Amino acid sequence: MSSQPIGIFDSGIGGTSIFKEIHALLPNEDTIYLADSKNAPYGGKSKQDILKLSIKNTEWLLKKKAKLIVVACNTATTNAIKELRDAYDVPFIGIEPAIKPAALNTQTKAIGILATKGTLSSELFHKTSDLYSHGIDLIEQVGEGIVPLVEAGKTNSPEMRTLLEAYLKPMLKADIDYLVLGCTHYPYLIPMLLELLPTHVKIIDSGLAVAKQTKAVLEQHDLLNNSMRFPKNTFYSNGNVDVLKSLLDDTFKTKALDF
Ligand code: DGL
Repeated sequence: MSSQPIGIFDSGIGGTSIFKEIHALLPNEDTIYLADSKNAPYGGKSKQDILKLSIKNTEWLLKKKAKLIVVACNTATTNAIKELRDAYDVPFIGIEPAIKPAALNTQTKAIGILATKGTLSSELFHKTSDLYSHGIDLIEQVGEGIVPLVEAGKTNSPEMRTLLEAYLKPMLKADIDYLVLGCTHYPYLIPMLLELLPTHVKIIDSGLAVAKQTKAVLEQHDLLNNSMRFPKNTFYSNGNVDVLKSLLDDTFKTKALDF
């Protein structure tokens, strides 16, 4: 069982930012990544649709013998992880916007959160934000249009810059000192965000926390792969495999999937 792969899925290629953190922390683990790019973005879909797609992705990864599943998508986590945990026996690791560290450390008492509509309107997000927003101004912004640009390989484009400038404007007006990235596609925007944000604004994402949690849960279940052989890390996409490839090291295998 411990030699079976970790399964990772996202609505598309954004979750590769989470894969990279997991692989850095757990280099012996085999992984299977599923990019459901054909159905991206999930952010504007209903909870029911997000749940249906998350179940489909989970079942595909279970057929590939995943020993644990990382839902490398804030939108799928906040809308479906409870139901997934209730329905399947494998452990699930999810990802949510990291409001807590931002709220605990803000000096200006204003933090920005950039995420999808599906995440920002979810019950789970409201629960967490209610818990940490006391006395703090939370500037929530839907990142409409960002995921499709990343999926189209236009992360570093003039269109992206225009969108980000517009989305950061109300946050900067409110004097945020933390920007929380609430979508796994967004870490790929960090170089552009650093150009657009004043230097005192810190960017927070949840990737490392997810990798640490994955390691802790594998340990708890005695599922860590301790073998010394070279790991297999395979990436499947039902969308544009070339864009997926462009985010990854040449050593990783990418495959087109009819799914
Ligand atoms: N990577 C997904 C997330 O973390 C993007 C959601 C979408 O497809 O809209 O939320």
